Amino acid sequence: MSSAVARPWWKDVVCYQIYPASFKDSNGDGLGDIPGILSRIDYLKDLGIDVVWISPMFDSPQVDMGYDISDYERVYTPYGLVNDMEDLIYARHQRGIKLILDLVVNHTSDQHAWFKESRSSKDNPRRDWYAEDGTRLPPTNWRSYFSGQAWEYDEQSGEYYLHLFAKEQPDLNWENEETRKAIYHSAMRFWLDKGVDGFRVDVVNIYSKGVEFKDAPIVDPRFYEQPAWCYYANGSRIHEILREMNAEVLNHYDAVTVGELPHTPDPKKVLEYVGASDKQLSMVFQSTLSTSARGASTNQGRSVSRFASDSPAYRTTSAKLLSLMLGSLTGTLFHYQGQEIGMINIPPTWPIDFYRDIESVNFYKTMAAQTQKDPAELEYVMRSLQILGRDNARLPMQWTGGKHAGFTDCETGPWTRVHDLYGEINVERQVREGKGSVLGFWKRMIRLRKEHAELLVHGAYEGFEIEDEKTFVFGKRESGEKRAAVVLNFSGEEQEVELPVYEGPVFQVGNYGDAAEKEKSIEGRIRRLRPWEGRLYLAGC
Ligand code: GLC
Ligand code: CA
Repeated sequence: MSSAVARPWWKDVVCYQIYPASFKDSNGDGLGDIPGILSRIDYLKDLGIDVVWISPMFDSPQVDMGYDISDYERVYTPYGLVNDMEDLIYARHQRGIKLILDLVVNHTSDQHAWFKESRSSKDNPRRDWYAEDGTRLPPTNWRSYFSGQAWEYDEQSGEYYLHLFAKEQPDLNWENEETRKAIYHSAMRFWLDKGVDGFRVDVVNIYSKGVEFKDAPIVDPRFYEQPAWCYYANGSRIHEILREMNAEVLNHYDAVTVGELPHTPDPKKVLEYVGASDKQLSMVFQSTLSTSARGASTNQGRSVSRFASDSPAYRTTSAKLLSLMLGSLTGTLFHYQGQEIGMINIPPTWPIDFYRDIESVNFYKTMAAQTQKDPAELEYVMRSLQILGRDNARLPMQWTGGKHAGFTDCETGPWTRVHDLYGEINVERQVREGKGSVLGFWKRMIRLRKEHAELLVHGAYEGFEIEDEKTFVFGKRESGEKRAAVVLNFSGEEQEVELPVYEGPVFQVGNYGDAAEKEKSIEGRIRRLRPWEGRLYLAGC
């Protein structure tokens, strides 16, 4: 088929995100590492994974778990060496698994040589490499994503510098051509030349801040600092910058980019980044829920807990429901580590001391100071962290029911606590359970998705009953006769749904073991779905 030939390689893949600190520890120091990842390549291959995306494994003081990079061309030593990355890239050729890295170039660490030089004096040649300002008052009232002000006064240079994240993460000045060239060289070409296949591009739409800094409107009167993304998100030169990045670097490799695109709910704006004729990014992640005036900004709770039910009775069914949904939606499938076994959020009983993430910890501290430790306020903070906090998805991967969930042999345990339920939710157990497990279900969904790729990956999407908030019903069509219908119950009560009008829909897979039996006795198009039940039908296949 000619359209299939013209398709870029990354459209059909299943990509698995690895959080290196929490995936697998190979040397017993309690922290995951690159050899640990290498030791599980066969596990990923068996699951049906085509691409691995590793969150930042570069040299870093780890103020923001590696999103504060002090040297793009080195690996954080506890994770391994550049050599270990080369071994991983080699595995790509051997097992046909591709590799993409995180490109974090809105900011560096304050320990990066560029920043150290830049701040050393006002006439340093690299002075202009970061966004700074010489006035003695904070230039604007902008709030950092990690609480508090986004401007930091630097005694050394006598000026303020901007940090939209932690104060140890100064924002680079993308207006400066030399800075851009250095980024392309050090953060991109260095790794592309070694054979990596592309990048997930961190907060890609906030590089261009404009030249005039203005105060943000006051939406949270309790604080001086205010969310200001309306000024720096999707700034005036961002498209020009991305075109340059393609012309100078990406076009010379068959590299994929997937941009993280916060603050951009308007599909027209999204298209400006991914339109095929004006290639800036291959694809994007959209997160419309990522700003909250209360502080916690990045929505990264576990999907089972966030969108379905992690109660003992329904968490397995819920994890399969999400697999059914993700496995049949159009577009490239991204999967987060542990999702394939249905890992869930941190237990509600865990106190703040068990949390590690700078965003969670700063949010808690800021609210404690602001409210004089008002217990009701702090309880609210803990409740929101338990749902949205980034720590939820950073707990060690649960490989076995044994000590430390088989993640590490370290005597003192892993760097962050293992989930209390690792005895019940772990890979070893699900491998033993086979097809009926969440892992078995994911494998089956990924296989089905690949078998019917024209329909499930590329087919045209149609939504049905869209005003019903408890159910999600959609159809997929491919140019021929093939159709898919997907009916999902996103509630803890029974719901009735109507199958789309397709000729001869045939039940394929559902998340209740007895669904196939029940189907035989059903006439017509109405289906009664049990709590969190989902089914996929194919027609004309
Ligand atoms: C993005 C990442 C997050 C990181 C931040 C700063 O939001 O997803 O993990 O803290 O960028 O680089
Ligand atoms: Ca280790």
